[in-house]
Amino acid sequence: MTQLRDACYVDGVRLPIGRAKPDGYYAKTRADDMAVRTVRALLERNPGLDPARIDDVAFAATAQVGDQGLTLGRSVALLAGLPRSVPGYAIDRMCAGALTAIVNAANAIRTGGQDLVLAGGVEHMGHHPMAAEIDPNPRFLAEQLVDPSALVMGSTAENLHDELPAVTRERCDRFAVLSQERTAKAQADGVFASHVVRDTVWTEAGWRVVDRDEHPRPGTSLKDLAALRAPFRAGGRVTAGNAAGLNDGAGCVLLASAEAAQGMGARPIMRMLDFVFVGVAPETMGSGPIPACDAVLARNGLRMSDIDVVELNEAFAVQCVAFLDHFELPLDTIQVNPYGGAIAVGHPLAMSGARLTMQLAHYLDTHEEAKRGITTMCIGLGMGAAILWEKCHE
Ligand SMILES: CC(C)(COP(=O)(O)OP(=O)(O)OC[C@H]1O[C@@H](n2cnc3c(N)ncnc32)[C@H](O)[C@@H]1OP(=O)(O)O)[C@@H](O)C(=O)NCCC(=O)NCCS
Repeated sequence: MTQLRDACYVDGVRLPIGRAKPDGYYAKTRADDMAVRTVRALLERNPGLDPARIDDVAFAATAQVGDQGLTLGRSVALLAGLPRSVPGYAIDRMCAGALTAIVNAANAIRTGGQDLVLAGGVEHMGHHPMAAEIDPNPRFLAEQLVDPSALVMGSTAENLHDELPAVTRERCDRFAVLSQERTAKAQADGVFASHVVRDTVWTEAGWRVVDRDEHPRPGTSLKDLAALRAPFRAGGRVTAGNAAGLNDGAGCVLLASAEAAQGMGARPIMRMLDFVFVGVAPETMGSGPIPACDAVLARNGLRMSDIDVVELNEAFAVQCVAFLDHFELPLDTIQVNPYGGAIAVGHPLAMSGARLTMQLAHYLDTHEEAKRGITTMCIGLGMGAAILWEKCHE
């Protein structure tokens, strides 16, 4: 095989995540404008990056219509004021949209075709409620290709509970409390300040500066969570407290070859070593990260104990607790989601992979002993993604 070049994460920014409610941060902001803001912020904080040298802009969204339509990467590049010579494209792998954009960008760099690529994701779930604008092929159900529950993510989480009775609601609620506690600590410690950029948004009450995530509920207790009803099934175990929320957000990262990073005077933080996407049963899509991580570890001769930090998307606590059980890790292991996760901070679908990547980079950059990390997610219609990263500098 041809020798692959290093594809490095150089920098990343995201907007504070908003709640997808009529009074949420971004209720009156276009999704594409949110994406544009992240690109501009990346350029502002990387003055050595010559916009004309950007080889591509890959932007993901799950709903590719309306203010998330028109080939996002290209329209975001033009709207952000990049030279017309910079191309772009849109990408969709539902929750793993940005993660897929990042893998594609890294592979374009690794194989020598490109040097500097912006990769990101945006999802305005307020403007594009989940599943509202799709028309699933009737064959899915008529030919029993999937169970009807496979098309409702909360129901797939209930299905996973059915399969794994050891993953009780009480354990899931404990995991959710931890997510809130860790997110609150990370916010207080300034972790998010490394990559969350402030924005000014138009609201009913006029212009408003937003500089921190809107979704977290610090101080959430087990007692609070135990009182919540289960909206996806009578007597179910999945609640608003132990599931990711419905959110609006945008994030973008800069990937570069080692030479291009050096050329712009940047210090690359981590390189992509490998990636795996797998398919699993759509009815229990939350299991996806398990075979994806097993595969990426096996292919690289590694065990989970060789990984210093995992950024696991918290679509639902059940799927995270199942992951921890599979790898024989305690519920409160600091190896997984040291800064909390989507249950607290929110999950604007295609954007979340960018957030995971930024947090992983921050962890590797600020923990001298940490060398390797994984970003991993479950994906609707039954998939899993895992990307293996290694710190660039010792
Ligand atoms: C679970 C879900 C339906 C809840 O949506 P919602 O009803 O709009 O959520 P809310 O934030 O209004 O919370 C519902 C209630 O729980 C309460 N609540 C939520 N989190 C809480 C917490 N941590 N502590 C205490 N109460 C909490 C809210 O206060 C609210 O109470 P109220 O009804 O008395 O006002 C929604 O978040 C969802 O669908 N999540 C999954 C998203 C998804 O599938 N993503 C893709 C993954 S693959």
